[in-house]
Amino acid sequence: MKPRRLKTSMSASKPPQEKPRKDKRRDPAVRAAPAKLARLRDAVARAEAGGGPERVAAQKARGKFTARERIHYLLDEGSFQETDLLVGSRATEFGLKDKDIPGDGVITGFGTVGGRPVCVYAQDFTVLGGSLGLAHAKKIVKIMDLALENRVPVIGLIDSGGARIQEGVDSLDGYAEIFQRNTACSGVIPQISVILGPCAGGAVYSPALTDFIFMVEGISHMFVTGPEVVKAATGEETTFDALGGPEAHAGKSGVCHFVAKSEQDCFRQVRELLSYLPQSRWERAPRLANPDPVRRATPLAEMLCELDPRRPYRIHHVIWQIADEHKFFEVQDAYARNMVIGFLRLGGDVVGVVANNPAHQAGTLTIEASGKAARFIRFLNAFNIPILTLVDVPGYLPGVHQEHGGIIRHGAKLLHAYCEATVPKISVILRKAYGGAYIAMSSKYLKGDFNFALPSAEIAVMGPAGAVEILFSRKLQEAKTPEEKAALRKTLADEYAQKFASPYQTARTGSIDEVIEPSQLRVKLARALRFLRDKRVPGSHANRGNIPL
Ligand code: HXC
Repeated sequence: MKPRRLKTSMSASKPPQEKPRKDKRRDPAVRAAPAKLARLRDAVARAEAGGGPERVAAQKARGKFTARERIHYLLDEGSFQETDLLVGSRATEFGLKDKDIPGDGVITGFGTVGGRPVCVYAQDFTVLGGSLGLAHAKKIVKIMDLALENRVPVIGLIDSGGARIQEGVDSLDGYAEIFQRNTACSGVIPQISVILGPCAGGAVYSPALTDFIFMVEGISHMFVTGPEVVKAATGEETTFDALGGPEAHAGKSGVCHFVAKSEQDCFRQVRELLSYLPQSRWERAPRLANPDPVRRATPLAEMLCELDPRRPYRIHHVIWQIADEHKFFEVQDAYARNMVIGFLRLGGDVVGVVANNPAHQAGTLTIEASGKAARFIRFLNAFNIPILTLVDVPGYLPGVHQEHGGIIRHGAKLLHAYCEATVPKISVILRKAYGGAYIAMSSKYLKGDFNFALPSAEIAVMGPAGAVEILFSRKLQEAKTPEEKAALRKTLADEYAQKFASPYQTARTGSIDEVIEPSQLRVKLARALRFLRDKRVPGSHANRGNIPL
């Protein structure tokens, strides 16, 4: 589909009034036209009015835009073309037979973002709380099919109390059809969900099947069951915010990927995210002209060579230096902060970054970090986006909580994601790369294409302290005093570090392709990326769903 400017039923000026003709011999069919037009205009006006002035005022009083305003702010000006405006409900029970349910509570259509086509639907909370009845579901399914068949992203603006209670199993079946479409679209076209109200039941499960979820402070809530049901079922007292607000889902559950301060800010973020994504799995992410020289130095990488290996630092500083114009679009910044993921451009090409962050939990691999990175890697692989892995990892986080929580199972997701990824894979070992975590972070024999290391890299089966305890336990026991033991420990650890705390043993085996001058980091990465642009792995064209991990 080519980008084009389309008229919107929302923003288009009113159609010009028919002027009565002077000709007495007018065709009767032509004479009937004004009445027919009036009927159309009346139907459109009623459908566009949503739940009416009172409910619209209530929506505004909550600090929320209407569904139509949301579409207007999200899409390129004037690009929205509505579909199924005149669809109505066929529900009859619980007084719905005589009730006007405009558009059955959802607006669907297509338009453009940054000149590229997208499909969109927006649930209208002013109409039966945006709840999902059968006709409402069919409209969403229809627009999702249109997106899938025309290979464009689909964006859901969700503001709904879930399955419409009055429509019984019809609304449940409606959700089932949507979930089926979400899964069919998974890994084929980007799917984005924006939560813009109190959302429950199916209204949270469909977003959970999509690639990215946005929430807005003060208005977005997500839960399977609300605080009242929670209290009735378990006796727990909670609030909308504590149970399902943006903070809970961005920081604790990991359900939400982006939090915005306002709806406007949120739509700006959605548009920015889309600028990093291809339209579908058959395309590449858009390349931009790059004003930032790839030969620009990266002083922070140089500083790493001087830094005490135990000193934490924020990995963001390194990422910003690598990125064109220092721009990094982080995903899930409040969740599992020991692992940082997001998008940047390098030499104009989009890259997905997966990086350990020594500023949190020393950058160890944890249950949450493994799941977060694994799903992102699978998304990148599905949508032809190269992966840049920045490694500074002392190992998997030890502990009963991690073991019983299933670090073996969750850590394996990370291994699986890297092993199956066939998009270009480039890694840089900045500092530590120990044991299983070294393997997991895109190492050479997980089919890394280019594996670089800085001179500050330390690559070994484990860190000096742990290795000394295992290798020299008998020798340490022979020490007569605690002071003697401590001194011996230090000597042995220094010897071990001297031998292994460098990239050179690994470079000798070919598991590292090159130990690079830190100042060359950006240019080396840009060249590698350029070279891998046309990488093809036989059999890699198969569909790859982005299952929620
Ligand atoms: C029909 C609904 C509705 C629903 C809300 N409304 N949810 N109508 N079916 N599911 C209606 C209300 O009756 C009300 O209509 C209007 O929308 C606004 O709702 P309020 O309750 O006044 O608003 P608020 O206080 O903000 O609370 C919003 C809410 C709450 C948190 C969403 O309405 C709520 O808890 N709704 C039910 C949520 C739920 O349990 N849904 C079913 C999930 S089961 P009036 O005319 O009075 O203004 C499900 C199955 C799928 O979805 C499972 C998938 C795995």
